[in-house]
Amino acid sequence: MSTLQTSFYDGPALIDRVSDALREADLDPTRLRVEDLTGMDQFHALGLAATLALAKLAELRPGERVLDLGAGIAGPARVLAARFGARVTAVEPLERFRDLAAMLNGATGLDHAIELVDAHADALPLPDGSFDLVWTQAVLPTVADVGAFAAEAQRVLTPGGRWALAETVAGPGGELHFPVPWADGPAGSHLLAPEALRAALERPGFAAETWEVGPGALARAAAEAAALAEGPAPRVYLALLMPEYDARMAGLARNLAEQRIAPVQAVLRRSL
Ligand SMILES: C[S@@+](CC[C@H](N)C(=O)[O-])C[C@H]1O[C@@H](n2cnc3c(N)ncnc32)[C@H](O)[C@@H]1O
Repeated sequence: MSTLQTSFYDGPALIDRVSDALREADLDPTRLRVEDLTGMDQFHALGLAATLALAKLAELRPGERVLDLGAGIAGPARVLAARFGARVTAVEPLERFRDLAAMLNGATGLDHAIELVDAHADALPLPDGSFDLVWTQAVLPTVADVGAFAAEAQRVLTPGGRWALAETVAGPGGELHFPVPWADGPAGSHLLAPEALRAALERPGFAAETWEVGPGALARAAAEAAALAEGPAPRVYLALLMPEYDARMAGLARNLAEQRIAPVQAVLRRSL
């Protein structure tokens, strides 16, 4: 069982805080559109643009069974269900995130398309071969044993199924500046160099067919972001979920600029 280094997600009454913010933005917390939430519920770099880019890279098709590991408040799950017609199982070990996810799934009318499961990804209470696509965004930086995570992903995928991931790796620039969105200090951060991450994830019968690091991993998301910039501005923001938001985002930007971290985007496929 992995230990979550997520104390900075703690805070009083998350549902109340988010409901208040929605009302202040003239939104009804009981009746929402998925797009009302995308400034807040995409808990990873580049937000909705990164989710759309990864779904397209994974060639997600309507009706596919998706397993979102480390689903947060199920923002990506709602996008995959609403925009791509996926049936999503959203695994999230933090109760306050699952509770908020359940509220938002109900408010957006997506209860039927998204099942919430309380579990850690390295010990899934789910049958072998039961998903077409495993999905992770911004989860692996706090996972100490990514090999166990990958073994479970492979087990629950159907033969020919794939794992789409958008994560962060260590860069050549040296030690990280803290805080970052996933950790207050080195003890909570488990970044691997790109080659080490790939070696830890791949195993017999499970190999990367796409593996992009650095600018290559950002290009598709940047194209999606340009298209989204034409749309309405968000009315609620991710800062609601993350104490010390500005300091963490500044740490992220500085580490990226100094090549201490880099984005990785990949699709691994389970062989037939
Ligand atoms: C930064 S959030 C990303 C949430 C979501 N993937 C998104 O992009 O909006 C990371 C999430 O991963 C979850 N998490 C961390 N370690 C996990 C593990 N071993 N198994 C399942 N979830 C985990 C955390 O509880 C947190 O909700």
